[in-house]
Amino acid sequence: MAKAKKALRVLALESSCDESAAAVLDESEGLLAHELYSQVELHRTYGGVVPELASRDHVRRLLPLVRRALERAGTAPQGLAGVAFTAGPGLIGALLTGAALARSLAYAWQVPAVAVHHLEGHLLAPLLEPEPPPFPHVALLVSGGHTQLIEVSGIGRYRTLGDTRDDAAGEAFDKTAKLLGLPYPGGPELARLAQTGTPGAFRFPRPMLDRPGLELSFSGLKTAVLHSLRGRELTPQLRADVARGVEEAIVGTLSAKAVRALEATGLDALVVSGGVSANQRLRAALTETVGRRGGRVYYPRIEFCTDNAAMIAVAGLARLRAGEHDGLAIQPRAQWPLETLTAVPFQHDSAAEAAIPHA
Ligand code: KG4
Ligand code: ZN
Repeated sequence: MAKAKKALRVLALESSCDESAAAVLDESEGLLAHELYSQVELHRTYGGVVPELASRDHVRRLLPLVRRALERAGTAPQGLAGVAFTAGPGLIGALLTGAALARSLAYAWQVPAVAVHHLEGHLLAPLLEPEPPPFPHVALLVSGGHTQLIEVSGIGRYRTLGDTRDDAAGEAFDKTAKLLGLPYPGGPELARLAQTGTPGAFRFPRPMLDRPGLELSFSGLKTAVLHSLRGRELTPQLRADVARGVEEAIVGTLSAKAVRALEATGLDALVVSGGVSANQRLRAALTETVGRRGGRVYYPRIEFCTDNAAMIAVAGLARLRAGEHDGLAIQPRAQWPLETLTAVPFQHDSAAEAAIPHA
């Protein structure tokens, strides 16, 4: 008879940019708590994230978030098998605050600390949903700092198929939103404004669609937007029309490239994650185009598209289960290539084993 194993339970921290978050995930009971504090208001006056302010605010917010997450989960530190934390990539000062706290808690509680790659967190966030994606699949990772198409054969098995040559999709949303006078972060604001815009009123360039391959480029978009606004009165309708044109160009480019990646790999499951995957028009376009060719799209729930600690807990739990421990040194990484991660073997090599149970 198989020996009954105690289910692993982890606490996870996220502090790579402008969200402080803590979550508790249990191997057999699923997600027990997730707490988040967004610094958006703090940075809004400056039109973008101010790294030093972000670090100081993480120091203030993280510990109360940890306390609340443990309380909501009904967990004492003795019930934890490890402390996972975002070790990179991200703002180095912000990463350092979470790494130092996670490492210290793990040391005090005498459990392992597990260093998690922020983008692996985004990639694995859909495992928290009732219908998790199968492996292998193609992932479209679209955040404020990254835009990548990745072949995901398993946890820790990532092959980059295409990347952006310049701006990330989220950055393109944020920069053009700024040109339209919208507050930071511009992505969701621009999407809201685009709702009242006339479809097709502006057709902005989609440069990488004329060329073969899976590379992307978005830096031309803000120049095109600048040209379209030059010498014109910025009326509410003009702003909405331009916003609509920008959203159509970004969504059109991303969905065409995602379909191309499915064709190139022969796969039919697509995962879309990262902040920009919260965009409703992108979700609708992808569901439509991928569905038409018999494929299926998997997303995290909206609140887990942008930065959060639940996704860090998923990656942390998988790595803890595989026996990974971080050393005693506190070593966050501003840069950290996804391809350098080690593969996490499943006992029976099945995707079901990676999925998170639902309480
Ligand atoms: O993943 P995330 O929270 O942080 C990074 O790791 O970068 O992504 C933030 C990005 C920002 O650029 C934000 O404008 C964009 O995601 N974003 C959106 C939407 N919600 C967030 N972009 C377009 N439409 C949205 N609804
Ligand atoms: Zn992120």
